Amino acid sequence: YLPYIVAAVGGYLLGSIPFGLILTRAAGLGDIRQIGSGNIGATNVLRTGRKDLAFATLILDSFKAGLAVLFFTFAFASRNVGLIAGAAAFLGHCYPVWLGFKGGKGVATYAGLLTFASLKGLMVGGPVWLGMFLLFRISSLAALTAAAIVPIGAYLLGETHFAVGVLAALSLLVFWTHRANLQRLLKGTEPKFGEKKKPAE
Ligand code: G3P
Repeated sequence: YLPYIVAAVGGYLLGSIPFGLILTRAAGLGDIRQIGSGNIGATNVLRTGRKDLAFATLILDSFKAGLAVLFFTFAFASRNVGLIAGAAAFLGHCYPVWLGFKGGKGVATYAGLLTFASLKGLMVGGPVWLGMFLLFRISSLAALTAAAIVPIGAYLLGETHFAVGVLAALSLLVFWTHRANLQRLLKGTEPKFGEKKKPAE
């Protein structure tokens, strides 16, 4: 089990780098956790009005999970070890020790994991996310729908049981990290992409 433990620790540390917080702070925008939804992810960085920083946050948050997958897949010549590293990066992003375990919601890191660890999952999640986003222009709704469908779709496409299990666990966690978004969606008060909103409740 040693490779899995090493990959989990390494992946967690990579994932716990809060790029949204670092970039907005470096740009002199204050604490992103006091802005909009209070989230440290790209969707909320966009609420500062800085599209460039939002895009950089999306890319870097995705890539840290992708890098965790790539590095540990090749280091231990095991796809399953890479999947665990990516899942740990997701956990590091959502629950970073440096921020008192209050991190992001895991959508970009999930996408990074899919890109480098499960193309079957990406083939399902990418179009679902995009379709829902184009229809409703609500980041959280697109993420929740994609998260719900990815494990099922990947399974139907013949993804391995191990990978499907990891994806199912991450999708459940996406629903947990989006619980405040879910409540707003049900009440009809969730803002559209690019709209500002009050600090996190
Ligand atoms: O990736 C997070 C997104 O789905 C929702 O972000 O800031 O609207 O809570 P936010």
